[in-house]
Amino acid sequence: MPATTSLNDFLAALDGLAERGAAAFAEVRDAETLEAARVEFLGAKSGALRDVQKHLGGIDKADKPAAGKRLNEVKQLLQAGFDAAAAALKSGEAVATGPVPDPTLPGTPLELGHIHPITQTIEHLKEIMGRMGFEAAEGPEVEDPWHNFVALNIPEDHPARDPLDNFYLATAAAQSAGEEGGLLLRSQTSTVQIRVMEARQPPVRVISLGRVYRPDAPDATHYPMFHQMEGLLVDRGITMANLKTVLRVFANNYLGEDVRIRFRPSFFPFTEPSVEVDFWWNDAWIEFGGAGMVDPAVLESVGYDPEQVTGFAFGLGVERLCMRRHGITDIRDLYSGDMRFLAQF
Ligand code: DAH
Repeated sequence: MPATTSLNDFLAALDGLAERGAAAFAEVRDAETLEAARVEFLGAKSGALRDVQKHLGGIDKADKPAAGKRLNEVKQLLQAGFDAAAAALKSGEAVATGPVPDPTLPGTPLELGHIHPITQTIEHLKEIMGRMGFEAAEGPEVEDPWHNFVALNIPEDHPARDPLDNFYLATAAAQSAGEEGGLLLRSQTSTVQIRVMEARQPPVRVISLGRVYRPDAPDATHYPMFHQMEGLLVDRGITMANLKTVLRVFANNYLGEDVRIRFRPSFFPFTEPSVEVDFWWNDAWIEFGGAGMVDPAVLESVGYDPEQVTGFAFGLGVERLCMRRHGITDIRDLYSGDMRFLAQF
């Protein structure tokens, strides 16, 4: 602009400045560009506004009030642009500039989920046992020593109660008294036998499928959390023959007519006699769980009369059954969360 400036030129310069300044502040995405725009438009020494202002002196006296008024307006406008950009930056609204999103592109398709193989197995087992008249029952995963041990005829000094073999929960009160809480994550679903018998009178014919916990180091066949299928049948005149038949029918239904099953003499505190249940798998007998005739002491602990009723019980590892049926070789695959594995089921 020349030394004398016409009002029109002055106003036009201000308009252009207002427009460029507004655009610059609107584009601010980080502190650096904000500062650069501030210096460019509002800088006290050589900012664009300051440059225009220098020409105010060359304007006709009569036009000065109009010129000054517009100058102030544009100054406020630029300041407002700066303030808004600074506030947006602070609130995180402005994001680093990148490729402008194209709203016309198709979205990422949602993958349809499905039921976890262990849950599928649980449903399948319930269905097979349901056909033999076994009703599903449930119990809590946090248990007291009565249901996890005492009522199951597992005395205080039994190694199964060792703190190294169980996840005991120390309650705050017990902890401050320096004692163990007593409660634990159940180590077996046999707890549900007790809960069901405490609540009902014979005959009972139930299964219970659920999680159990033991502090085992994970390897191909062990995991600190796994599932068991517990079975219990108590009635008049129940014998070991009934147990063997039920387990054999179950095995044939779940693993096929050609499955080989073996009952091996064993010991459990809550059954007498006791057996271990093996299935033939990959050229070897593999243990799938335990079973036996419910010990009279257990029947008495829930108020049943062992002279009137007898029963059998069994507990099988659900992961093992699932692995045997699907040819899975490592239990950890079930819990790794690896979709390439899980998507196969
Ligand atoms: N509770 C036993 C375990 O976890 C398995 C078991 C054995 C369950 C014999 C039973 C049974 O019901 O009769 O090792």
